[in-house]
Amino acid sequence: MSSLHAQLQSRNVDPELASLILTLAECGSAISTLVRGGALSGILGATESENVQGETQKKLDVIANDLIKERLSAQPLVQALASEEEDHSVDANPAGRFLVSFDPLDGSSNIDINSLVGTIFSVLPAQSGVSGEAAFMQPGRNQLAACYILYGPATVMALTTGQGTWMFTLDPQTDTFVLSDGQVQIPQQTGEFAINASNQRFWQPAMQRYIADLIAGKEGPRGRNFNMRWIAAMVGDVHRVLSRGGLFTYPQDTKNPAKPYKLRLMYEANPMAMLVEQAGGVASTGYETILDIEPEQIHQRVAVILGSKDEVETCLDYHKA
Ligand code: AHG
Ligand code: MN
Ligand code: MN
Ligand code: MN
Repeated sequence: MSSLHAQLQSRNVDPELASLILTLAECGSAISTLVRGGALSGILGATESENVQGETQKKLDVIANDLIKERLSAQPLVQALASEEEDHSVDANPAGRFLVSFDPLDGSSNIDINSLVGTIFSVLPAQSGVSGEAAFMQPGRNQLAACYILYGPATVMALTTGQGTWMFTLDPQTDTFVLSDGQVQIPQQTGEFAINASNQRFWQPAMQRYIADLIAGKEGPRGRNFNMRWIAAMVGDVHRVLSRGGLFTYPQDTKNPAKPYKLRLMYEANPMAMLVEQAGGVASTGYETILDIEPEQIHQRVAVILGSKDEVETCLDYHKA
């Protein structure tokens, strides 16, 4: 039984980064407690406000965002933060070494049906002489750490500081995260894929061909059957990919021409891409490695194809053709 704290020490993670990660874990365990209370915590249902993403905010989107914002603003190591639920980045402590971007509640549409939700964090280095949103304009490759906390039947945390991906389980008795997998490895091959198939008619031709060939199964060009899963929370789908492999994609579509991509680079794609790459997987837009994207805007969105190496590469071959 090794705690998150002990793991950060034994793996020689920079003590300040380790201290920030412990703060992120505390945010996760506090939100986990609220999620566990469900209706009794007064967290279900929607608000009347809309976020900068154009989505109606759920109560828990706002509660989780405020909780994290408050705790990170009080952390002297944090210079500024950026959130899916905030219009602009928020300055915290000028002397802080770290920038934190986060998705306070991923899978909002699942909260009222008692299904999987989570929180995603990305940590970037602060840049000397650069402040405000400009400081966040760094490729995901610069991330010092990435993690998510999944509030499932068990609360689990997947974490990377660039030396592999580790998995922890929250012990509700002691309120500590305990190591459950010290070296997550995504199988290179898979027979499982995840996509919101209701958007099929809006996908680009490359994705149309790729998915059609998966669905054709044994009788098609792939010569074997594939199974499909869709949780509607990236955090749940990525957790399955880290646990047993698979391909997850939210591709470009033409459903709403003003919004060709769904997932957000800073809060979703970058941290998940780092966790996946550090576990031996691949994360791409179809044309570009996610972690190499030079961001232009904190709320920018991207296409995401990630997971088992061989399967993602097969999907990328369709994009080259
Ligand atoms: P969020 O709840 O943070 O807004 O993110 C939801 C995202 C992602 O978690 C999930 O994979 C996807 O949206 C689900 O989209 P559909 O509702 O289109 O399936
Ligand atoms: Mn949202
Ligand atoms: Mn999300
Ligand atoms: Mn969210």
